[in-house]
Amino acid sequence: QELKINLEQIEKGGYEHFMLKEIHEQPNAILDTYRGRLLAKDGIIRMAGIDDNIEKFLNANRIIVVACGTSWHAGLVSEYIFEDLARIPVEVEYASEFRYRNPVITEKDVVIAISQSGETADTLAAIKLAKSKGAFVFGVCNVVGSSIARETNAGAYTHAGPEIGVASTKAFTTQITVLTLIALKLAKANGSMSNTEFHHHLQELELIPEKVKEALKADDHIKLVAQKYKDAKNCLYLGRGYNFPVALEGALKLKEISYIHAEGYPAAEMKHGPIALIDEQMPVFVIATKKGHYEKVVSNIQEIKSRSGKIIGIVTEGDEDVKNLADHVIEVPETIESLTPLLTTIPLQLLSYHIAVMLDKNVDQPRNLAKSVTVE
Ligand code: AGP
Repeated sequence: QELKINLEQIEKGGYEHFMLKEIHEQPNAILDTYRGRLLAKDGIIRMAGIDDNIEKFLNANRIIVVACGTSWHAGLVSEYIFEDLARIPVEVEYASEFRYRNPVITEKDVVIAISQSGETADTLAAIKLAKSKGAFVFGVCNVVGSSIARETNAGAYTHAGPEIGVASTKAFTTQITVLTLIALKLAKANGSMSNTEFHHHLQELELIPEKVKEALKADDHIKLVAQKYKDAKNCLYLGRGYNFPVALEGALKLKEISYIHAEGYPAAEMKHGPIALIDEQMPVFVIATKKGHYEKVVSNIQEIKSRSGKIIGIVTEGDEDVKNLADHVIEVPETIESLTPLLTTIPLQLLSYHIAVMLDKNVDQPRNLAKSVTVE
């Protein structure tokens, strides 16, 4: 028993929980994800799984992404990335819905299955179904040699290293990194992105690990924000565009480890229902980075303020407008729009972590949850 405890402490590398360790591992995990693949100076992205099957991707009518939970959120981010950068139509599906829906799939479809564990039963079943209809299936997995890695026609590993905490953190950011690399590669190959733009994206992606390190430095400030809102019964998370899926992911993180009810919404949808929930008891976490739909998000923030909601803004360094309106702001470094999810997700992970610790919850093994869901 004592030996087990000591081993676990060693594995946690000085952190109190695996989740905290894994949050802090993200700069290196992202670096490991693009190491050997992203050659920014030469303007090259090298990925054998894509290179060997490039025609399949270039001739595809559309990409269908299948996944569950956090991996599904990474899939949603990839919808913005693929459509915006590579101009390829994308549909993102919950694996569990896809497989039971009698979906229309043909040999002209490329299916991307995303899974940290590579063992999620619904995702595995969705892959088998897509294959049986003749689609080409590409896997984005973390666990090497996992069932999904073996079942797919080709794939790319995230190389995030073991993720032990049930709440997924570094798996999410590394999945987005792999999907960004793929989208950029396809954008270059199909001519939807100019050379200058392509180079600019590669350079910005290369800077992300350092910027994640910067974002992690807000930890003490985030702890103070967590202290303020730890007793909330409900929370709203809002974002637009690339950051809408980050809002969903922020809400999921809070739910699963602190057991506080939280919902993520596209900011503009607020006025179609959830705005009725807003009063002085309701903390609203709003992702409002400078790139994207900034002015629109600021006006959403004004709507929350006029209903006395508590506003916590996730903003770009040096932001003034949101600061003037919000109760708190948490800053992240500036980057190009498509890469903002890799930064805005960091404070939301830390926030959920600190709230769960303050509420004395079992952070690494929340009730009712398993690391990989191998039942349907
Ligand atoms: C995330 O924090 C969850 N615990 C869960 O939603 C998870 O992402 C989902 O079960 C999918 O797992 P996978 O990536 O291993 O397929």
